[in-house]
Amino acid sequence: MTNFSLLKPTGHLTLGNYLGALRPMRETAQRHGADSYYGIADLHALTVPHDPAALRELVPEMATLLLAVGLEPATLFVQSHVPAHSELSYLLECVASTGELNRMIQFKEKGRGVPTTRASLFTYPALMAADILLYRAEKVPVGEDQRQHVELARDLALRFNHTYGPVFTVPEIATPPAGARVMDLQDPTTKMGKSHASGAGIVYLLDRPDVVRRKVARAVTDSDTGPAALRRDREAKAGVTNLIDILEACGGTAEGLSTYGALKAAVADAVVAELEPLQKRYDDLARDPAAVTAVYAAGAERCRATTAPVLAAARNAIGLG
Ligand code: TYM
Repeated sequence: MTNFSLLKPTGHLTLGNYLGALRPMRETAQRHGADSYYGIADLHALTVPHDPAALRELVPEMATLLLAVGLEPATLFVQSHVPAHSELSYLLECVASTGELNRMIQFKEKGRGVPTTRASLFTYPALMAADILLYRAEKVPVGEDQRQHVELARDLALRFNHTYGPVFTVPEIATPPAGARVMDLQDPTTKMGKSHASGAGIVYLLDRPDVVRRKVARAVTDSDTGPAALRRDREAKAGVTNLIDILEACGGTAEGLSTYGALKAAVADAVVAELEPLQKRYDDLARDPAAVTAVYAAGAERCRATTAPVLAAARNAIGLG
């Protein structure tokens, strides 16, 4: 079983990234003894206005965190170190239609109709499809917000295979049973993203315990009281539902709790317990940046070897000499 997933270095990694993607990535690889390819989608970070210096700092931080999370070193790489991604992306732009790219939620929300939107934000899903298809990935462990992108990758694989010959494996999405969509603690109707006007509703993986406790204590709930108030209702009680989801995703339960104060304390304890070992490993790994760089250099070499025959097959099928 081949697994594939990337994360975009547009901000510091969050609890949403961890519960929705990083932990399932680690578990999928462990469970299936799999052939996995995981890493950093730096090309995708260029689709929105960006600061080159900030990107240059975020990539090593993220690289160190992926190791700290426990992803197998041999599986890791940085997307731009493997030029085949850009090359296949162009071929898939020649298979995708403007109609389907125009329907992508991310493009609709972040840039459609705005003349200064980068053209790469429009073509981004073709690059993401190229990422996945180049490795003939079978499973793509991601959060719920990536579903539409993975579906497009499936559509493009099927269309390419049907039109030009059987080159690609049709991938499947894998979302975790709990934590596939973690919401912002201050604004629980929106996803916990890497960047938000204020970071108050975002738990970052490197937030230390006191910061995590403060953010959870200030999470938005509602004014219901009594034991019956502690229940899931995604529409009417988005904040409380999100806290219960986070607690369960971190191995706890809201059963037996009777106040929002107790719920928040339980959530804070569970999140701190989940993050502390990872932060300790991060601190250790960060002492030797050259060792982290070496891990990714070896990973890129492995990826170049894996992807070369797939790219060659795609070029050949589409008629390039
Ligand atoms: P990105 O960087 O926005 O997010 C990385 C991963 O974290 C998941 N995630 C969440 N899961 C649960 N709750 C949240 N609040 C939350 N926020 C983010 C995302 O679903 C994702 O799995 N386009 C991708 C990166 C990418 C990719 C790929 C992924 C590029 N090429 C190929 C898989 C396969 C992205 O922007 O993820």
